[in-house]
Amino acid sequence: MSAILETHGLGVAIGGVRILSDVSLSVRRGEIMAVLGPNGAGKTTLFNLLTGLRRPSAGRIVLNGTDITGAPVFRRARLGLVRSFQITSLFPSLTVLENARLAAQVHLGGSLALWRRVRPTDAAVAMARAALETVGIAEYADEPAGSLSHGAKRKLEVALAIVGKPAVLLLDEPTAGMSAEDVPELTEVIRRVRDRHGTTILLVEHRMDVAIGLADRMAVMHHGTLLACDTPDAVMADPLVQSAYLGEAL
Ligand SMILES: Nc1ncnc2c1ncn2[C@@H]1O[C@H](COP(=O)(O)OP(=O)(O)OP(=O)(O)O)[C@@H](O)[C@H]1O
Ligand SMILES: [Mg+2]
Repeated sequence: MSAILETHGLGVAIGGVRILSDVSLSVRRGEIMAVLGPNGAGKTTLFNLLTGLRRPSAGRIVLNGTDITGAPVFRRARLGLVRSFQITSLFPSLTVLENARLAAQVHLGGSLALWRRVRPTDAAVAMARAALETVGIAEYADEPAGSLSHGAKRKLEVALAIVGKPAVLLLDEPTAGMSAEDVPELTEVIRRVRDRHGTTILLVEHRMDVAIGLADRMAVMHHGTLLACDTPDAVMADPLVQSAYLGEAL
């Protein structure tokens, strides 16, 4: 399997403090990779570098053969690298379908002027409906987004992110704050997105059982470095990984 997303010697310092050092990661096309690590390990910082919210002080990022190290957020999105929307980006009084349709409109329409009335197009509505169907919330299409349960809102977030069928989807703690009984459905949605569209998915996940159940491979970070990247079995058996987690627990 070829790599769709690679980092080469990625590093970043914030205020003179080294946050990430020499992170070289190769994500294969179509895989689900979980990024694990204790609090403060640098997982979100890595995601910020990948999506362009923060610039690295060292190293390179390559997406599908294109160097995107210095590319702005919107260009990365155009090239197919998308991060899940946060719940705060939902419009609670608009319907579920309208929220998804706006996301589709952004994808189709180039620049977005949300303050202008955006004329709905059939293409955008079709994309929106398809995304809602993929994540399993089509039945709520006409409900206000604000009325959805917490679990359904998380699915809508995923729907907004996948409306343009991105090549790579980044999810930072998709199950955070979810009750244990809602988690299996969301993990099923994530797997379905990959299986239906071949989307490569990189997710930060604190729940070890979720990561192990979902991921083809797991990357473990510790103090800003990449400690291991391998199958769940191999990673769990890695003495370096074990000591990193035990070290944090002491
Ligand atoms: N804007 C910032 N300014 C200063 N330090 C920062 C900033 N952002 C992150 N850090 C530091 O960088 C380190 C990595 O943070 P990061 O948020 O990437 O960790 P994380 O692995 O996502 O942790 P968590 O599991 O708690 O979400 C931490 O020590 C954090 O304090
Ligand atoms: Mg984080």
